[in-house]
Amino acid sequence: MTTTRQHQRMRLLFRLSLVSVLTVGASRVALDYLRNNDVGIKLMPSEYTIRVPVEVSEEETIEDGCDVFKGRWVWENESYPLYEEENCPFLVKQTTCLRNGRRDSFYRHWRWQPDGCDLPRFNGIKLMEMLRDKRLMFVGDSVQRGMFESMVCLVHSSIPSSVKTSLRRIPPRKVFKIEEFNASIEYYWAPFIIESISDHATNHTVHKRLVRLNSVAKHSQEWGGVDILIFESYIWWMYKPTINVTYGSLDKIEEINVTAAYRVALQTWANWLDSTMNPSTQKIFFVTMSPTHLWSWEWRPGTNGNCFNETRPIKESSYWGTGSNLDIMGILEDILGQLTINVTVLNITQLSELRKDGHPSIYGERKGKLLTKEQKLDPKNYADCIHWCLPGVPDTWNEILYALLLQDYRVHVQ
Ligand SMILES: *[C@@H]1O[C@H](CO)[C@@H](O)[C@H](O)[C@H]1NC(C)=O
Ligand SMILES: *[C@@H]1O[C@H](CO)[C@@H](O)[C@H](O)[C@H]1NC(C)=O
Ligand SMILES: *[C@@H]1O[C@H](CO)[C@@H](O)[C@H](O)[C@H]1NC(C)=O
Ligand SMILES: *[C@@H]1O[C@H](CO)[C@@H](O)[C@H](O)[C@H]1NC(C)=O
Ligand SMILES: *[C@@H]1O[C@H](CO)[C@@H](O)[C@H](O)[C@H]1NC(C)=O
Ligand SMILES: *[C@@H]1O[C@H](CO)[C@@H](O)[C@H](O)[C@H]1NC(C)=O
Ligand SMILES: *[C@@H]1O[C@H](CO)[C@@H](O)[C@H](O)[C@H]1NC(C)=O
Ligand SMILES: *[C@@H]1O[C@H](CO)[C@@H](O)[C@H](O)[C@H]1NC(C)=O
Repeated sequence: MTTTRQHQRMRLLFRLSLVSVLTVGASRVALDYLRNNDVGIKLMPSEYTIRVPVEVSEEETIEDGCDVFKGRWVWENESYPLYEEENCPFLVKQTTCLRNGRRDSFYRHWRWQPDGCDLPRFNGIKLMEMLRDKRLMFVGDSVQRGMFESMVCLVHSSIPSSVKTSLRRIPPRKVFKIEEFNASIEYYWAPFIIESISDHATNHTVHKRLVRLNSVAKHSQEWGGVDILIFESYIWWMYKPTINVTYGSLDKIEEINVTAAYRVALQTWANWLDSTMNPSTQKIFFVTMSPTHLWSWEWRPGTNGNCFNETRPIKESSYWGTGSNLDIMGILEDILGQLTINVTVLNITQLSELRKDGHPSIYGERKGKLLTKEQKLDPKNYADCIHWCLPGVPDTWNEILYALLLQDYRVHVQ
């Protein structure tokens, strides 16, 4: 029941919010280079250098037909979060809400409970055994980087501290290596999946977007040999209803409807997948759109705020905000449906929609810097309601990913 004026306002707010949180400042560039060294512990050869088959118990098996994306959030303050922010040295300040001053802690203590089954408890050693001599790579934007960092923290906290790990920055990649297992968990910055002028790891802006609809080659040469690929691309498309596109030549730029552009882009990506992926050795996932909580009137009519000051999840089970575009969702379904190779959809949109409490809000960053005191007093303009605090919602996405990898391992290896 929103009016046209409200729609226009929403669109404008969406743009402002995107600009404030997707634009990385020069300070981040400098920081990234400074921090481009190993974090880790040196040690002796260990028991983990020997391959051990992963045992998947009855309890860890998801029953056939159980939709793990349908369920509810359960308060679990004893056993969640699965790691502590201060014990994970790999987080960037975009997600370290506690350190950035957030005082309420409820957001860290929710567990996702699917309706028809239980998720297995995350076990870093089992994941490492499954990833032995393998590479797992997250591809996408800064929301996807949050998922990568969550995975790194989950692993780091659940393997013995004697196991040597390192995080290296090789822009636009980040590589987390777990030596004894010869395994790596990686992140690759590609906010549109296909090529664009925003592909520099740190020097990019959402103000100027130009995508090359027919090419993914520059990126895909880095993806080709990866064993498990997890793609995501949404929020960068949504800055305006139209986007500038080209089919190669920079003199021939057209401004077209975002939904039309998204379809062509995904088709380009899909063609590449179909022609190069080996379904018997490689696994592909696609993460659906991560919801934003920019307009509090959507879940609490009559209010005029955003995710700021939200400390509890939404209680209903089917809240869906207008920020999660159904046309884009439909396009994703169409394109994946036409593929000849299997792409597993991590359909995290609905479950994350309920977590209006999970965003950094004013305890995030803007242009690579924490908010100033004055900015914090102006949450309408400065709250980050797009990214997620860690520990938090992306941990659940990874628990589900882990559960699916375990099922696949059971079916194909055991
Ligand atoms: C967990 O929550 C329950 C009820 O909300 C409370 O009684 C208990 O003290 C809490 N435990 C911890 C460790 O915070
Ligand atoms: C380590 O893993 C990579 C793939 O990630 C593989 O190419 C390489 O052969 C492995 N090294 C050893 C010693 O097995
Ligand atoms: C970022 O890119 C722009 C143009 O692509 C360039 O003019 C500018 O110097 C770059 N900034 C940094 C910090 O590298
Ligand atoms: C497309 O590019 C033109 C020329 O640079 C610019 O004026 C226009 O605002 C751009 N459109 C979008 C949707 O970014
Ligand atoms: C974009 O195109 C789709 C179909 O191609 C159409 O349904 C939608 O209304 C268009 N949006 C705009 C803003 O033109
Ligand atoms: C935050 O929410 C609480 C109630 O949940 C309210 O009492 C308080 O005034 C709010 N604070 C601000 C700054 O809006
Ligand atoms: C994801 O789940 C929603 C329901 O929560 C559904 O409407 C949508 O079609 C699903 N998307 C895909 C790509 O399967
Ligand atoms: C794709 O997945 C379906 C259902 O999980 C399965 O029946 C089919 O054999 C898979 N196809 C390939 C090529 O792996």
